[in-house]
Amino acid sequence: MSTLDINFVRSQFPAFSEPSLQGQAFFENAGGSYTCKPVLDRLTRYYTQRKVQPYAPYEASRLAGEEMDEARARMAAILGVETDELSFGPSTTQNTYVLAQAFRQWMQPGEAIIVTNQDHEANSGPWRRLADEGIEIREWQIDPETGSLNPMDLENLLDENVRLVCFPHCSNVIGEINPVTEITAIAHAAGAFVCVDGVSYAPHGFPNVGDLGPDIYLFSAYKTYGPHQGCMVIRRTLGEMLPNQGHYFNGDVLYQRFTPAGPDHAQIAASAGMADYIDLLCDHHSGPTGEAAERGSFAHDLMRSHEVALLQPVLDAVKDRNAVRLIGTSDASRRAPTVALALNRNVEAVAADLTGCGIMAGGGDFYAVRPLTAMGVDPDQGVLRVSFTHYTSQQEIDQLLNALDDIL
Ligand SMILES: Cc1ncc(COP(=O)(O)O)c(C=O)c1O
Repeated sequence: MSTLDINFVRSQFPAFSEPSLQGQAFFENAGGSYTCKPVLDRLTRYYTQRKVQPYAPYEASRLAGEEMDEARARMAAILGVETDELSFGPSTTQNTYVLAQAFRQWMQPGEAIIVTNQDHEANSGPWRRLADEGIEIREWQIDPETGSLNPMDLENLLDENVRLVCFPHCSNVIGEINPVTEITAIAHAAGAFVCVDGVSYAPHGFPNVGDLGPDIYLFSAYKTYGPHQGCMVIRRTLGEMLPNQGHYFNGDVLYQRFTPAGPDHAQIAASAGMADYIDLLCDHHSGPTGEAAERGSFAHDLMRSHEVALLQPVLDAVKDRNAVRLIGTSDASRRAPTVALALNRNVEAVAADLTGCGIMAGGGDFYAVRPLTAMGVDPDQGVLRVSFTHYTSQQEIDQLLNALDDIL
């Protein structure tokens, strides 16, 4: 297994050589990541050379359309699904709203959806609102101490009325990685479809969604080094069965069925830059030369091992402090490097203090009001959240640890 060449990685992110950001270590990556150079280059090229209506025969238009198709094809290949099983929408929240509308039309009153209280509101609220239409909403609840979801509890909630189970790959405050394949198998065995919010997981390595198994997998490209788009995998069987939410004459095209808005052409085209970045990582570290999914999986493991090594000392530094409650597990191998701390004081003021130490971090509820409440954390008080990714360096971690020492 190669180790990540952090200097190479950082050379692919213009933010790290931007003078106005020097000396400041970025620890709000779970909110949105820096953008990689291939994405920025494509965005600039699109806006300067191809900013015309795509898919017409003239050259600029042909190139624009081809680049949008390229983005979908290459990202779908990395995710281990068919090209038309991936679609782009304005954001994950808007994508779940459209999906919920489709399920509302498909389901009968008295049928049920299972949601969790571990999710960000994006994969919770839109589903819960279907209760107004007579759909039963059952809540799969976390352990109030650990924040974990227990798959056995899901088994107890399932019966022949359940049509859909929604849960996160990992929560944006608890960070623990859920066993998606195991949970999906339990839901499928009971005849339910599965919708996974991968927003907090995908920045740490694109998963092979085909192998993982869910019917829907959502993530946000502005957190995976790309432009501000929501990426949505809907597997064919489900996508063709749910009622079309797009224009009626586009209903035969799977990737247009759940994206009613006119798409952001430039951002979709620039999303191919995320695939470029995976290729650059793979080639630089002498990864596999074959299939995109294999290369994606190599890049995933490269990112994960760097992150886990950097994360454990951060968890060790906070887990036993009296004035701090670490939310979620202190075992780095089981979680994303998104570390939320409940402090029993105003976290926004603490985040402001951190800026004085050159740490960019945030405090608040991060739209995870339900999990925080379930764990006994007052969402008005919120949590301090420090989150990083594979491009974070050991020096930045040291800077963070010194800052936390000073401030906590
Ligand atoms: C876990 C999780 N899910 C969903 C969302 C919502 O994503 P979007 O901003 O694309 O709607 C976020 C945003 O922070 C998130 O952290």
